[in-house]
Amino acid sequence: MTEIPTETLVTVFGGSGFLGRHVVRALAREGYRIRPAVRRPDLAFHLQPMGRVGQIHPVQANLRYPASVEAAVHGADVVINLVGILFERGKQRFEAVQAEGAACVARAAAAAGARMIHVSALGADPDSPALYARTKAAGEQAVLAAAPDATIFRPSIVFGPEDDFFNRFAAMARMSPVLPLVGGGETKFQPVFVGDVAQAIAKAVGGAAKGGTVYELGGPEVRSFKELMVYVLSVTERRRLLVPLPFGLAKLQAFFLQFMPTPLLTPDQVELLRADNVVSGAAIDEGRTLAGLGIEPAAMEAIVPSYLWRFRKTGQFRAQGA
Ligand SMILES: NC(=O)c1ccc[n+]([C@@H]2O[C@H](COP(=O)([O-])OP(=O)(O)OC[C@H]3O[C@@H](n4cnc5c(N)ncnc54)[C@H](OP(=O)(O)O)[C@@H]3O)[C@@H](O)[C@H]2O)c1
Repeated sequence: MTEIPTETLVTVFGGSGFLGRHVVRALAREGYRIRPAVRRPDLAFHLQPMGRVGQIHPVQANLRYPASVEAAVHGADVVINLVGILFERGKQRFEAVQAEGAACVARAAAAAGARMIHVSALGADPDSPALYARTKAAGEQAVLAAAPDATIFRPSIVFGPEDDFFNRFAAMARMSPVLPLVGGGETKFQPVFVGDVAQAIAKAVGGAAKGGTVYELGGPEVRSFKELMVYVLSVTERRRLLVPLPFGLAKLQAFFLQFMPTPLLTPDQVELLRADNVVSGAAIDEGRTLAGLGIEPAAMEAIVPSYLWRFRKTGQFRAQGA
């Protein structure tokens, strides 16, 4: 029988987010004590029923405030950083959150003698034209500088019931007669199931992943953006026009869209779409993948229809009980 490591305390920054909820659930199953460190603990009460009474205890922390980060890692054995943003708003700048914020967590983890697990993203690159990718790369470098034994995970697009990608485009297909294919829709992705990423992180907490190593996490299939849009339309039973949009034109459109409360597209995201988002050959050769951790990744076909059905015409019909 596996020994339940009840005394191990794991601080999870970003524990209330999409991936965070799955990580907290996976860690709770393993019996760890979990401290989700979130900006609004009052909005994190939904995490507590995932564990036993007293097993999950949210605390307040903001990566832009080092004192709150230090308090959140106090006494922790393992620290996980899942914090990332897709667009900038107010003081939430890429540099402050994804580069300096990651550095702040790693320094605090090292000072507390805790092991560090950091989630970055495929495409992290100091030379990328996208600030998102440059700050993800800067975050990785800062984490390894402060905590050389840290394990870093770079997922491709993550899918699952509350994901931002498939839900967003299914919603767009419901409203709009056309779906844009930025740069012709040729950018390649390797969508990975949120449960598999959470399991990889839980394995790393258990000591199964190498320290000082960057793992690249992708699902079993590589698909172009256009293929993914065709897939969304087939699952949601919609017929929509797929319109190729050259990068320059997409950037112009994104300039205006970026001012929406939750932007559909930003100029930085257009830049991000210039590079493929797939697991590298080097990572596969060196076992720095889900397979290397003994995880067989789930196919999107097995999971995505279970939550995109509500965007179907027939799904709406059923939901209205008509
Ligand atoms: N989802 C994907 O497809 C994908 C792909 C590749 C990499 N990733 C990476 O995976 C990680 C998790 O992504 P996700 O999809 O779960 O994102 P998410 O749902 O947006 O979660 C991000 C979390 O970060 C928190 N956060 C934001 N700014 C913060 C700050 N200044 N201080 C403390 N917490 C802050 C958010 O809390 P609030 O509620 O307070 O804002 C939220 O809990 C991110 O690093 C992301 O870049 C995700």
